[in-house]
This record gives sequence, structure tokens and C-alpha cells, in this order.
Amino acid sequence: MQVIDKKLGDVKDRSLADQGRAKIEWAATFMPVLAQIKDRFGKEKPLAGVRIGACLHVTTETANLVLALQAGGAEIELCASNPLSTQDDVAAALSEHFDIPTHAIKGEDNATYYKHIESVVATKPHMTMDDGCDLVTTIYTKHNHLLAEMIGGCEETTTGVIRLHAMQKEGVLPFPVIAVNDALTKHMFDNRYGTGQSTIDGIVRATNVLFAGHTVVVAGYGWCGRGVASRVKGLGASVIVTEIDPLKALEAAMDGFLVMPIAEAAKVGDIFITVTGNYHVIDGEHFEAMKDGAIVCNSGHFNDELNLDALNAITVSKDQPRPFVDAHKLQSGKTVRVLAEGRLINLSAAEGHPPSVMDMSFANQAMAAAYLAQNYKTLEKQVYPVPKHIDEEVASLKLAAMKIDIDTPTPEQVKYMSSWSEGT
Ligand SMILES: NC(=O)c1ccc[n+]([C@@H]2O[C@H](COP(=O)([O-])OP(=O)(O)OC[C@H]3O[C@@H](n4cnc5c(N)ncnc54)[C@H](O)[C@@H]3O)[C@@H](O)[C@H]2O)c1
Repeated sequence: MQVIDKKLGDVKDRSLADQGRAKIEWAATFMPVLAQIKDRFGKEKPLAGVRIGACLHVTTETANLVLALQAGGAEIELCASNPLSTQDDVAAALSEHFDIPTHAIKGEDNATYYKHIESVVATKPHMTMDDGCDLVTTIYTKHNHLLAEMIGGCEETTTGVIRLHAMQKEGVLPFPVIAVNDALTKHMFDNRYGTGQSTIDGIVRATNVLFAGHTVVVAGYGWCGRGVASRVKGLGASVIVTEIDPLKALEAAMDGFLVMPIAEAAKVGDIFITVTGNYHVIDGEHFEAMKDGAIVCNSGHFNDELNLDALNAITVSKDQPRPFVDAHKLQSGKTVRVLAEGRLINLSAAEGHPPSVMDMSFANQAMAAAYLAQNYKTLEKQVYPVPKHIDEEVASLKLAAMKIDIDTPTPEQVKYMSSWSEGT
């Protein structure tokens, strides 16, 4: 097995390591489910001898995940899954204090971002752990020779799962992958409540804007969009939803939101938030139609939800009045403010999701990794859901940690629910 120099990795400033460790330990106090899994992993070592290449947002919560995997016997090397989402102190702590070589610097350019992915690929991982599928696509397109020794991967987010399904459809998915995003204990809570709260946190930290009295346009009414829209409404904003799916649009309308096409919404919104996972959802003509001073950001996986090239083409000058705010002065004389270069606002300008929700997401990741290590020989090159028993266990452990009891069906109820003979 290759020997990895544990001090290797590429982080911004190793002197931040103590600060990072304190933050990791703080987050751990809100992650009781992952803590139990870490304890179990420490005894059972389900990942002994498995090299994991992880391409995840380098945050305090991710740190606790990789420490649980390490306790389970895995060797892990970590890089960022977004150029702006890294917490530099956490990256330093992982490299310096926890023997996790980490390659991630907040604000790294695209070339450095991919250089860091290559550093992880160079460790010849047996398993990938991705947030957005960049690691799998890099290995598939450039390092095919590694596939023979690989057993599979896990994927954290909606956009990554969409890309993996596209690979499977084209017959190029290189190994089995578990769609962690699709676990109910992941997307029902992380995407909805996590993105809902942390997106607002990112906007407020970047701008200090008051939501009350403003019109907020939420593009996309999926799991994330529902969370964002409901929380923005709770802060007193008027909320407009844009959608392409008639069912989601209808749901938004019945939840009490105004629904209209983006071309209409562009004219009346004060703050725009995209969470679609789609491309150029806000395009040049929409930027052009916006009110003077409009604020635009994205909380979907890739920054191409905003057509920034089209915006730049109609921009005469640009300045940065605050960190994470680019004020574009347009040919029309109006100003449009784009936050965090269109990258995930919650992870760029704030700290991402709170740890208590990532507790469930990463409990799924950890258990999915162990499941993969134990079962990969029987799995095909397909995208698999997280096994139901894992999802149910995560929910039960979280309820127990929250000291919430629920009822158990009586034998009579079990019989009733499984029979067809009782009628009117
Ligand atoms: N910021 C975060 O921390 C975070 C967390 C989880 C997921 N995500 C990302 O957020 C994105 C959305 O995830 P989700 O789980 O809500 O997905 P989802 O599939 O549940 O919802 C996406 C919604 O966007 C709609 N949509 C697509 N194109 C559109 C368009 N042009 N205009 C308006 N609506 C459109 C779809 O119809 C769908 O209802 C993905 O990119 C995902 O990876 C980000």
C-alpha cells in the first residue's frame, strides 16, 4: 500500500489549525448520530484498508465525517468540491491535527481546484465520496487505469446524482455509486431546512439586507427551493416562485406563493435566489430587466445557474463594495449586485448547513461507505439508493438523540394495516 505523508496537503495557512480544531469540536457537539457511528466504526473497523478519495465542501461538518471514516479504518485524502466553500482553518486542522491530508484553499482558481482533485486521485482511491460528481468524472475521463482497483462511490448532492444517472444512461458509469442525496433523512432535511436557513445566512452575512418588505424571487421549488421560500416568507418578504415543472409550480401556488415566469419576476424582484440545478436560469435579458440595486445569488450546485458571461457583456464597470458582493454597473445605468460570484451562497459567504442537519446527511454517508465496502462485489455499475434500513436507522438515532419517543403499532394495528378484508 502506498505510504502517504500525513503532513502533505495544500492548505492556506497551517497556523489556523488550532482555531479549526476548536470549530470542528464545536460542530461535533451537534452531531450525536455521527458520533455514535464513529464509536461503532472504532470498534468494528468496517473500512479497514479502504482508501477513500473525498471531494466535499471542507467544513466543520465534513471534518467530523472524515474523522468517523478514519475511525472506521479508512485512509482518506480530501479536496474541496467548490472553489469558494473551504473553511481554511478547518483544512489546516485536518492536515495538521487529524492526519487527513487536505487540498483546499478558499478562493482557489479553477486550475488549482482541479490540481487539488488530481492530488486526491493520485492516492489511487478505492472509493470516491463526491459532492457534485467532479471526482468520478475526473477519474473516468483522465484516470481510467485506476478503475480496476476501485469498488465504488457515494454522492452527496442532487446535481451529482443527476450527472451519475446521465453517466449510467450512456453506459459509462465506472462503478456502483450510492446516491446519498436520495436518502429521505438527507434531502428532506438537509436540502430543505439546511439550505433554507443557510442560504439566508449567506445573503445576510454578505449584504446585511432586511428581508421584510422586499420581494424575493426563488427560482426552483424542489427540496431546496421549498425550504428557502418558506423561510424567506417567515422573515416578512413577499415571495415569488419560478418553476418549469407544473406540479411544483402548483404546489408553490397552493403554498401561498406568487408563481410567474422569470422574465416577469425579473422586473419586480429585489433579491433573486436560484436553487434549480439547471443552466442559465437567470440570463442576460433577465439581468437587464432587473430593478436598480437588485441582489442576485445562487444556492444550487454550480454557478452557471446565472449567466454571468451575459451579465459581464452588458457591464460597463464592476466594483466590490463588500466581500462577496460584485456590483455590476450596467450600460443602462442600473446596478445589479451578484453575490459570491454566483457560487453556493450559503457555503461561500456563510458556513453552509448547521451541523445538526449535516449529522443526518453524513450519518448516511458514513453508513453508505461501510455498506459499499461490505457489498461491492454484488453490486452492478449502477446508481443505487441508500438501503432503507440505513435511512430508518438514521431517523431512529436522530429521534433518540432529540429525546423524542414515538408510538409502536399494536399487533392488531399491524394486522389491520396488512389486510384487505376490513371494509366499510
Ligand atoms: N446550497 C446547498 O448547500 C445545497 C444543498 C443541497 C442541494 N443543493 C443543490 O441545489 C440544487 C437544487 O437541489 P434540490 O434538491 O432542490 O433539487 P430538486 O430537483 O428537488 O429541485 C430543483 C427544482 O428546480 C426546478 N427547475 C429546474 N429548472 C428550472 C428553471 N429553469 N427555472 C425554475 N425552476 C427550475 C425543477 O423543476 C425542480 O423543481 C442542486 O444543484 C443541488 O445539488 C445545494
